[in-house]
Amino acid sequence: MSELDFLTDPFLIDPDDIPGPVLVTGAGGCIGAWTCAILSRSGVPVIASDLNKSPQRASLVMGPEAAEDLDWVTLDVTDGAAVAEMVAAKDVAAIVHLAGLQVPFCAANPALGARVNVEGTINVLEAARHTGTKRTVCASSVAANSFPPGQGSLETIYGAYKLANEHTAFVYWADWQVPSVCLRPNLVFGVARDQGISSRNTLGLQAAVLGDAFDIGYSGAYNWLYAGECAAAFIAAIRQDGVGAHAFDLNGRAGTIEAGLATLSELVPDHRVTGSGGVFPVPADFDETPLRSHVPEYPAISVEDGIRATVRAFKHLKSEGRLPPLPS
Ligand SMILES: NC(=O)c1ccc[n+]([C@@H]2O[C@H](COP(=O)([O-])OP(=O)(O)OC[C@H]3O[C@@H](n4cnc5c(N)ncnc54)[C@H](O)[C@@H]3O)[C@@H](O)[C@H]2O)c1
Repeated sequence: MSELDFLTDPFLIDPDDIPGPVLVTGAGGCIGAWTCAILSRSGVPVIASDLNKSPQRASLVMGPEAAEDLDWVTLDVTDGAAVAEMVAAKDVAAIVHLAGLQVPFCAANPALGARVNVEGTINVLEAARHTGTKRTVCASSVAANSFPPGQGSLETIYGAYKLANEHTAFVYWADWQVPSVCLRPNLVFGVARDQGISSRNTLGLQAAVLGDAFDIGYSGAYNWLYAGECAAAFIAAIRQDGVGAHAFDLNGRAGTIEAGLATLSELVPDHRVTGSGGVFPVPADFDETPLRSHVPEYPAISVEDGIRATVRAFKHLKSEGRLPPLPS
């Protein structure tokens, strides 16, 4: 039991829905932390893998004791042999492939971005191919929707890599019958979201609880995809054997920065968080009906409920002296 269990309670699943261990790549990241927390609290065996050896973000979501109990392994997704060996040796029934470098890191080092985001995904699909794994879900991104250019959405090298992955997954099904689902999350917020260009609304909530002044840097229309809902969608995609290669938008809720700040003001009336600047350069609303028609049901969390849970968790972490400072 952890006092943070309220975060994952809405998303727990029947462990019989998944017939064996789940390999999570990028388990050290935000969505990975939530995915590991939900699966392990549901009683599903998890192999939490990352380059990073520390379950620090998972401990923010599930508490330090439960995070330390995770089966934590170091796995570099650019090492194809290591990925294949891990999937075979651990008798993996499903893969949640989240390891990746976000927009600023791909822009800073495009070749490394391609190795991790593109070659890493190929290595995961190869492992699924050679072990006959029928349940693989890969993190694409809403950034893939920026192509072909001219969609009114920022074109990034990161988005180009994610789109390449979706086409690669298609060929793995067409040529080798490797089923997969690629999910395109919109802008994730919640506990453990601390890096990437769309993390600033979460950093604003964290700043409010820390008592710091902070400008989110965006205003107007904004997408709010609660991290728990996002992880639940990835888990829903592996609750059934796959047939075909699918790519779906994972939208969460369309809202605004101002409405989010109004909810924050109810919870932390004296906060010093502002939203100035222009509109975030990605559309705030995509249709997620195709995804929800394809996978078993999972909860939809309102922006207000997501902000309330996040601020409650940040206050709890602060009371324990575990709320990290804002990244510099
Ligand atoms: N957070 C969002 O809003 C969002 C939106 C759309 C798509 N995505 C995608 O979802 C996935 C997870 O996002 P996140 O927010 O949890 O990201 P994150 O940046 O918090 O975590 C990514 C994790 O990948 C790990 N990693 C990096 N290189 C690796 C390698 N070579 N081998 C193994 N692990 C490696 C990092 O150590 C990190 O723990 C990413 O692929 C991201 O592109 C995220």
